[in-house]
Amino acid sequence: MIGIYLSGTGNTRHIIKEFFKALGEEERRLIPVEALMQKVEGDEKIRQELLLEAVARTNRVVLAFPTQFSNMPYLIRDFINKHHELWSGKELFIITTMGLFAGDVTGCAARELQKYGADILGGLQIQMPDAVCDSRALKKSCTASREIIRKAEKRVHEAAASIRLGVFPKEGLTTVAHICGLFGQRLWFYNKTTGYSNRLKISDACVGCGLCARNCPTGNLHIENGRVVAGNHCTMCYRCISHCPTQALTLLGKKVVDQVMYEKFATQ
Ligand SMILES: Cc1cc2nc3c(=O)[nH]c(=O)nc-3n(C[C@H](O)[C@H](O)[C@H](O)COP(=O)(O)O)c2cc1C
Repeated sequence: MIGIYLSGTGNTRHIIKEFFKALGEEERRLIPVEALMQKVEGDEKIRQELLLEAVARTNRVVLAFPTQFSNMPYLIRDFINKHHELWSGKELFIITTMGLFAGDVTGCAARELQKYGADILGGLQIQMPDAVCDSRALKKSCTASREIIRKAEKRVHEAAASIRLGVFPKEGLTTVAHICGLFGQRLWFYNKTTGYSNRLKISDACVGCGLCARNCPTGNLHIENGRVVAGNHCTMCYRCISHCPTQALTLLGKKVVDQVMYEKFATQ
């Protein structure tokens, strides 16, 4: 089994690690999706090809990503389509993390993968702290976030126990979930996830440290004249926004309220 994941603020990485641990699978078989998607040269390219070959050889893949507007982040959609040859006959289990409401987000990925012949084993939609740190409405206290993480871990272990008995959870894969996801969010916000975004905003607080550029999963950021410059390839993961030491970056909101990162809650 191989796990492929996108994680902006660490939630999804933590959940897929817990899932692998609970199933007795090795953590080294987890691959961040950017390692398969970034444009690389030389030895890095060879390493990327080897990783893709390893995925091609594996019968069972766990795909994990954060919910965005009850849909997949565009980087995940792009990955599924770009490497469509990988999915024929492969068994897929889909895990998503979410802040509050995910509708049928696992179903969105499942339908895309099925187009290429994948066999969908099941889906799991797990609540974690909300990554959108430039909106006051979505903020929760540290205590509340830690409680959410505790419940999430419990759910992951319960799901793994059930899978060990051969019963896969089907969260987000039912017709009812499809209707909820469609009418609850996707109809109104569909355009937000049909491509990469060019809406990342950078304020004068930027000191050009480059931490955001080093962390961006799509290589969308670079430093020019001592300041960061954003391209039009943002997958809205909030990793740069959460890491910025001067809180100079925003996306959906206008001001960073409190940066969210899984590690922050885990260590406090
Ligand atoms: C652009 C964006 C859109 C989001 N949309 C939703 C949503 O529709 N429903 C939801 O429950 N959570 C939503 N979230 C919250 C994330 O899915 C959630 O915080 C997730 O656990 C983040 O995982 P990560 O740390 O692995 O990136 C959204 C987050 C972002 C950044």
